[in-house]
Amino acid sequence: MPRIHNSITDLIGNTPLLELHNYRRKRDLGGRIIAKLEYFNPAGSVKDRIAWAIVKDAEDAGKLRPGDLIVDVTSGNTGIGLAAVAASRGYRAKFYLSDNISPDKVKILRLYCAEIVTVENQFFLDPQALEKITQRVKDENPGAFFTDQLANPANPRVHFETTGPEIWRDTDGAVDILVGGVGTGGTLSGGGRFLKSKKPGLKVVIAEPAEGSLPTEENPYPDEIDGVHKVTEVPAEQLPGNFDTTIADEVIALNTADARRAALDLVADEGIFAGTSSGAALWAATQLAGRPENAGKVIVAVLPDIGERYLASFK
Ligand SMILES: Cc1ncc(COP(=O)(O)O)c(C=O)c1O
Repeated sequence: MPRIHNSITDLIGNTPLLELHNYRRKRDLGGRIIAKLEYFNPAGSVKDRIAWAIVKDAEDAGKLRPGDLIVDVTSGNTGIGLAAVAASRGYRAKFYLSDNISPDKVKILRLYCAEIVTVENQFFLDPQALEKITQRVKDENPGAFFTDQLANPANPRVHFETTGPEIWRDTDGAVDILVGGVGTGGTLSGGGRFLKSKKPGLKVVIAEPAEGSLPTEENPYPDEIDGVHKVTEVPAEQLPGNFDTTIADEVIALNTADARRAALDLVADEGIFAGTSSGAALWAATQLAGRPENAGKVIVAVLPDIGERYLASFK
């Protein structure tokens, strides 16, 4: 088999697991924390998986032709993944972003030749925001392919078919707990569903932003954990269609400062510079690993992307 690949789409997935030995030893944690390093994907995040799965589905269904426009609403990583796949497959890309996302991500999107429309962050406080933005995207882009990452079934499906099985294979079935954040819900819903089908006692734990890290009418621009949303006390119709509301066994809330500190601890202890939502997953994993009942348990934390995507927010 030659070792030359033919498309970036061939390089998606099969990301490595890394056990955080130094981090565990320094904190005297009973549980073992294993990081799934999604920044190894070719455009740098877990979202490359869904970008390609969604585009491939559309190609197979005859919904995309060369030169077509791909549109979505994204907090950045899905846009970067889609823009990379679009470049590789000969499409154009346009994204609607809230105006508080990391400036580094916006710059990357522009470099990937994507067209960008910014939406005020306050808009997303409207309970009908998801419905309204979806309608706007469709109205403003007739004939474009709307990827709809929030509800497109290819999103949780690719995690069911790849992320979950990779974790199962690479831990040799030893994984006990899967922990991460929810943006669209695809990673934990699809990956978690696969792992629970293999091991019914496995726990899925969500790291969600605490109140102080969420936008309000009075403070529409708090320091947020890019890409992850609150899932508790949210009316069902405001949750993404791809989030399986039955998947979580526990939800752990944290603020952005905790997430960022955990991300920096990871750099100091292991030499891994992951993003803010990765810090959030690690922070939650650390709480779990410190509980006596989790001594010796294998806790897999999904780290969605690299810290360099948030340089502006790391002081
Ligand atoms: C930085 C980051 N972390 C975590 C997530 C959560 O992933 P998912 O959409 O699969 O729930 C996202 C998705 O938006 C993200 O961009």
